[in-house]
Amino acid sequence: MDHFQLKNGAMYAEDVPLSRIAEEVGTPVYVYSRATLERHARVFREGLAPVAEASGREPLCAFAVKANPNLAVLKVLSREGFGADVVSGGELVRALTAGVPADKIVFSGVGKTRAELQLGLDKAIGQFNIESTEEGRELAELAASQGLEAQATLRINPDVDARTHEKISTGRAENKFGIPLVRAREVFAELAALPGLNLRGVAVHIGSQLLDLEPMEVAFAKVGQLVADLRADGHTITHVDLGGGLGVPYKAGDVPPSPADYGRMVARATAGWDVHLTFEPGRVIAGNAGVLLTRVVRVKRGGNGPPFVIVDAAMNDLARPAMYGAWHDFDAVAPTGDRMVANIVGPICETGDTFATDREVDALQSGDLAVFRTAGAYGATMASSYNSRGFVPEVLVDGDKYAVVADRIPADAIMDAERVPDFLQD
Ligand code: LLP
Repeated sequence: MDHFQLKNGAMYAEDVPLSRIAEEVGTPVYVYSRATLERHARVFREGLAPVAEASGREPLCAFAVKANPNLAVLKVLSREGFGADVVSGGELVRALTAGVPADKIVFSGVGKTRAELQLGLDKAIGQFNIESTEEGRELAELAASQGLEAQATLRINPDVDARTHEKISTGRAENKFGIPLVRAREVFAELAALPGLNLRGVAVHIGSQLLDLEPMEVAFAKVGQLVADLRADGHTITHVDLGGGLGVPYKAGDVPPSPADYGRMVARATAGWDVHLTFEPGRVIAGNAGVLLTRVVRVKRGGNGPPFVIVDAAMNDLARPAMYGAWHDFDAVAPTGDRMVANIVGPICETGDTFATDREVDALQSGDLAVFRTAGAYGATMASSYNSRGFVPEVLVDGDKYAVVADRIPADAIMDAERVPDFLQD
């Protein structure tokens, strides 16, 4: 459920008409709903109630910052008690700036640089998820040389097919993530013996936009076996991080598992583990809490197919359709009830700048407003300035008020960071 609904024939974000935001902020613009973010955070946490009950411990929900790193969004979630799963120094600083306590920050990622590891140590973050022997040795050496001890888990690769888009699948043997399960005990033993590291558990994340819980349950069963094996080897295992990945509905008819289904599965899979659990949800929290609001530039007659509805948003603003062939529902802000079949495209000079092909949508004309739905996760954060288009602003709605929470960065501001060197001056 989200708060982008029609009221008297016009679409609102909570109690703010989207047409007002378009007038006052301009288009394209990302619009987020605070009430939706909060609702999703609570539903996710409530879904995990059976896990909390069974383990007697409240799990840590660490929002995957990569899904939506906007400071105001992070602040909303931090106030809901969420921590942060970060994958770069930049995300780490954002999480801290938004008020996420350092001990609720988990640092994932295969390529943490030495400087990023040091930053995590300086800020005394809650957990490093180590992805290789080499990274573990480097972190241990850094920490020990400063008399520190890094709290860490070892991320394993369970070789499970998450049955999602191949570009967002992360838990198969050929993916770059984690330590292959067959080597996990040996690597754990080596790293656990190093001063500077408190290797206290394991982490797993097999992919994103999962519409089926079965692969996760298979992966979690492998993690459970590994926890038992590591304990048999004499290690103390107190923490397991089960990652994110729960899918969301992008189009009518999609029925992803609910957080409650997920919670029941996790409670079953983790029964008897006796550990602190961490989760790293991203999309399920932010996806349906945002839309990309856009204006139709013009409608152009097609060659031998449907007309092209050319909107002022493009693949640089919302990359998912071009990058993954992803579907985003597209609805008029003031639908007339008439429908049309159209190709929805942006102004960028490549055919990949296509949001929808042969799609039945609300009838639209030049100047009309429309939204791409489910754009709150992996939307603004994946933007680029391709075609010198600048960066889209972001707005957060709260009841009947709203605030611009990220300014539009115009193309000339990006150009200001460039210079022509002396040797090219005339
Ligand atoms: N934890 C780790 C270690 C991850 O790699 C990810 C996502 C998450 C948590 C959050 O997963 P979520 O709950 O959002 O599924 N740009 C792609 C998605 C990439 C996801 C990468 N990792 C897209 O637009 O679909």
